[in-house]
This record gives sequence, C-alpha cells and structure tokens, in this order.
Amino acid sequence: MTSKEFVKELLKELEPIRRAHAEITEDFYSRPRTREQTVALLMDRCYRELQGALRIAEQVPRFVEADRDLFHMITRQVADEARHYHLLASILEELLGRPLTASELKPVPLTLEQNRAMYDEYGFHLVERFASLGLGAEYLSAAINDVVIKRAEPEVAHAYKQINRDERFHAKIGILGLERYATTPELQERARQAALRTAELHLRAYEQLFQAVRAMG
Ligand SMILES: [Fe+2]
Ligand SMILES: [Fe+2]
Repeated sequence: MTSKEFVKELLKELEPIRRAHAEITEDFYSRPRTREQTVALLMDRCYRELQGALRIAEQVPRFVEADRDLFHMITRQVADEARHYHLLASILEELLGRPLTASELKPVPLTLEQNRAMYDEYGFHLVERFASLGLGAEYLSAAINDVVIKRAEPEVAHAYKQINRDERFHAKIGILGLERYATTPELQERARQAALRTAELHLRAYEQLFQAVRAMG
C-alpha cells in the first residue's frame, strides 16, 4: 500500500475512537458545571499544552537534517502550543481570581501515562512521532474541541475556537509526516500501533478526567 493509502486506512480505523471522543465530551457537557469543575478540567488541559510546547521543542533539533519542511512546521507548532498554554492559563487565572503558577497545573494520572507514551516511547522514531502525536492525540482532541466550542462557557468556547484551528494544522503535520515516511509495510505497522495505542490512552485519559471532574459536583 502507498503511504497515502495507508493514511486513509488508518483514519478509517480511527473513526470509531474519534466518535467515542465526541460522545464522552457531549455527555460531559450535557450537564452544568461549577466554576471549580471548570477549573479542574482546564488544569489538565492547560498542563497538556505546556508539556506540548516543552516536549515538542525538544524534537525540533532532530528535524534540522531530517526534513526542512517538517522542521519549519514543528517549530511553528511549538509556538502554537505555548499560545494555547498562555490562553488557558489566563482563563484559569480569571476563574481563580489570582495568579497561577505552572507547578499548580494538575493532570489526571492517565494524562501522564499518555504523555509518556507519546513523548518518551514514540517521540524518537520518525513515523511513530507523527502517528502518535498527530493522529493518536491531536486529530482526536479536535473532536473533543468541536463539542467544547458548541457547549462550553463562552470564554472557554472562544479559546477553543482559536486552539482548534491550530489543532487541525497539527493533525495535518502528522498526516504529512506519515505520507512522507510511512513507506514500507514495517513502517506502516509501527505507525499504526503507535496511533492506535496513543488514541486508546487519549480516550481513557479524557474518560478519567471527565469522571474526576464530575465526581466533584
Ligand atoms: Fe495545543
Ligand atoms: Fe497541538
């Protein structure tokens, strides 16, 4: 199979899990939330953005020789993630009514596990990096954000409108990386495993987050 055909197949394979992301988010947002619940939710999501900026920045030097186009895109991605962190941290400060320090950002345990897989396990192999981050996480977080934009508090929805424009670009970086480099059956299988495992962890992390936030109410 060509790499383009492979990406099409992989997106098809991810479709049920993409729908599951939209469904758990619809379910979460179908009930009202207190300010404390919104704070707890955004603490995890803001942590993800900060880690994204820091961990993707570590990947940048490796792309200087590997691929000039992807070097440029990934460097832009670092700035995007830093902007997302800044946006969400500002909303959190508004909700808390006081300054926030980065060390206060509290993710749920499965967010840490997903980040470990995405950055430590899959972050160093060319096709695994694009499959794990771009398709296993960012492509799916866009499905969450589509619901957030429709259902969340106005200031949160507004932030995610901006974030989601970038998230779609980041998912495209993943697709482009795979179209360029997932050229053999072996590489395609590695990419597939990385995408599916990250997608599963991403879904379970959001399930855990939504449950933890619900339990506060
Ligand atoms: Fe982001
Ligand atoms: Fe992103």
